[in-house]
Amino acid sequence: MSELALVVLAAGMGTRMKSALPKVLHKIAGRSMLAHVLHAGKALGAARVVVVHGPDMIAVEKEAANVITDCAFAEQSERLGTGHAVSMAKDALLGFKGVTLVLYGDVPLITAETLKGLLAKLDAKHKMAVLGFEAENSHGYGRLITKNKDVLDIREQLDASPRERKIKLCNSGIMALDNALLWQIMPKLLNKNAKGEYYLTDLVKLANKAKTKVALAMCGETEVAGVNDRNQLSVLERAFQREARCAAMEQGATLIDPDTVYFSADTKLGQDVVVEPNVYFGPKVIVADDVEILANSHLEGCVISSGARIGPFARLRPGAEIGENAHIGNFVEIKKAKVGKGAKANHLSYIGDAVVGPGSNIGAGTITCNYDGYEKHLTEIGAHVFVGSNSSLVAPVKIGAGANIAASSVITRDVPADALAMTRPELQIKEGWAKRYRAVKQAAKDSKRK
Ligand code: UD1
Ligand code: CA
Repeated sequence: MSELALVVLAAGMGTRMKSALPKVLHKIAGRSMLAHVLHAGKALGAARVVVVHGPDMIAVEKEAANVITDCAFAEQSERLGTGHAVSMAKDALLGFKGVTLVLYGDVPLITAETLKGLLAKLDAKHKMAVLGFEAENSHGYGRLITKNKDVLDIREQLDASPRERKIKLCNSGIMALDNALLWQIMPKLLNKNAKGEYYLTDLVKLANKAKTKVALAMCGETEVAGVNDRNQLSVLERAFQREARCAAMEQGATLIDPDTVYFSADTKLGQDVVVEPNVYFGPKVIVADDVEILANSHLEGCVISSGARIGPFARLRPGAEIGENAHIGNFVEIKKAKVGKGAKANHLSYIGDAVVGPGSNIGAGTITCNYDGYEKHLTEIGAHVFVGSNSSLVAPVKIGAGANIAASSVITRDVPADALAMTRPELQIKEGWAKRYRAVKQAAKDSKRK
């Protein structure tokens, strides 16, 4: 197979998004639309990637480089049409011997499988291929003029005759063609059309003139749906989530109420994971086998080892690493902390910037006081430590293995292994005090009423 280059169009600011952020940086399932497209392209093993962006879009370059380290960029400073946008990639593709695939930064759900199907249509006779779909409502799309399963031309909505407008077969915009052919016919594009733009779609007619056929590959409408506003963004988010839930279940996770579980594009679940309702997976979550995630938990940037139980109502923040068979219970927040094998923090705690040794038990209401207003400090808890309820561990501080922290203690110094640490005023008991107190108070209340 010949080498592949991608041209990703990402020039539009997307005025209808009403946003300071370039359109392609808006996210679906925690990943920018641009990154979705680049990941699909990366899966095809593209040798070169060129992102065409608008003026002052440094953020777009940064985002693209996160996915494709050696990504090339071209700027389209004037919006003169899709053909003009692709032509900006000329320098970056000079002399490239292979196939160029045009993708759109605002068409994020395209899959590598579909793109492979499109590329597979290229052969000696077909040096170009177009990805089409049957539109439920074809209004606004370019219509594919075909003959014997090949594409002869694409007619844009505004330029189409009433008869052509009846065609249901539409252009997704995505196309693949021999790179040499692309730059041979590109200079012949004209802007004599209803929009006064250089239409990329006119390359089909020009390719036919240059004596090559243009093949047609088909895909579903959702995969090539574009985003122009935030309503459309939400429609694609929903479509993505539907797919992600099905995929999670196909790969061996039980979702008790799939419609209430939200995944990120990079969420990884092991086998026999059970996810209860209302669980949100933010970016970068890796879950091993046999983990239970109970209802109403929010997870991001964390790794959960096998057999662990999380929630209900747990919050795992970036850097949380939960060991095998550990339990993180209700209203427990873990940030940048390693919780050892079999350790438990079952109720109402904040464990941040910490290491909790295996088998340790963190009592209800324990707080690692990690922040002094200026810097974050580490709390190190050894193995099999027992931290009594409502304790404050003022970092930096170390609790030795097997130590016991009495309930309600404020630990400001290191505690040696196997020691008891306790900060607690003497307990006072005053016999009969409560009864006398009630009598006095009640008498005062009664005298006021009279
Ligand atoms: C385009 C296709 C149409 C297809 C439809 C699919 C052309 C001429 N028409 O129409 O056949 O059915 O997409 O959605 O290609 N862009 C630039 N620079 C420009 C113009 C556009 O980068 O100068 C980018 C846009 O940001 C967008 C994409 O190209 O990502 C498509 O442009 P748009 O103006 O939306 O084209 P359509 O009229 O929808
Ligand atoms: Ca469009």
